[in-house]
Amino acid sequence: MGILADGINEVIATTVNPETGIPNAAPMGIIARRGRTMMQLFHGTHTEANIRASGWVVANLTFDPMVYVESAFGDLPDEAFTEISTKILTEGVDIPVTMQRLSVGEGCEAWEAFTTTIVSDNPKTLVVELTPVASEILDLQPHPPNRAFAGIIEATVHATRYVMTRDPELWALIEQSAEIVRKCGGEEHVAALEVLIAFCQE
Ligand SMILES: Cc1cc2nc3c(=O)[nH]c(=O)nc-3n(C[C@H](O)[C@H](O)[C@H](O)COP(=O)(O)O)c2cc1C
Repeated sequence: MGILADGINEVIATTVNPETGIPNAAPMGIIARRGRTMMQLFHGTHTEANIRASGWVVANLTFDPMVYVESAFGDLPDEAFTEISTKILTEGVDIPVTMQRLSVGEGCEAWEAFTTTIVSDNPKTLVVELTPVASEILDLQPHPPNRAFAGIIEATVHATRYVMTRDPELWALIEQSAEIVRKCGGEEHVAALEVLIAFCQE
């Protein structure tokens, strides 16, 4: 059973560098439209390099705002990852593969593993199509709609660009989302916002 919805799913993508075995997590958009599931990866991220080298990615659903901020700018600790064993059909043969998903401690409520096929590799982005191989619902919780969670996602998207460009227009957008997070958020949203602002000011 799939866990994604039609549109762009802002998930935490987990991947592994097959040479070192080091796992990685980062917020990534997975685009599900007209029966196809795609990712558009900007060059230079660990996620892009790991997907190129391994041919798989795991999409994780969590509502922990700190996981979005910390995985966007830094590295999650080892205990943030849990090993999963699955099989990938390669040239007609099922090959066992070990992947990494996000741990329940990181608020992971469900995950879905995909193999990836490169659709286009252009100067700006690598586009891959995803094929599901396994999924699991772990611990679904009610999540009353909250503007602060959306605000953290929005601010984090802008901040990943701001740290590279220092564009004042992006800072203004971050401030706008920050205002909503402060107004509508619980303690965990405000704490994540503070960490995000600290990353921006580094
Ligand atoms: C909600 C959200 C969605 C994002 N979606 C994408 C995406 O679809 N493609 C991409 O290349 N970067 C995306 N980013 C930016 C990456 O998360 C960011 O570049 C991150 O630092 C990459 O980490 P990594 O080097 O560990 O892979 C997104 C960021 C956020 C906050």
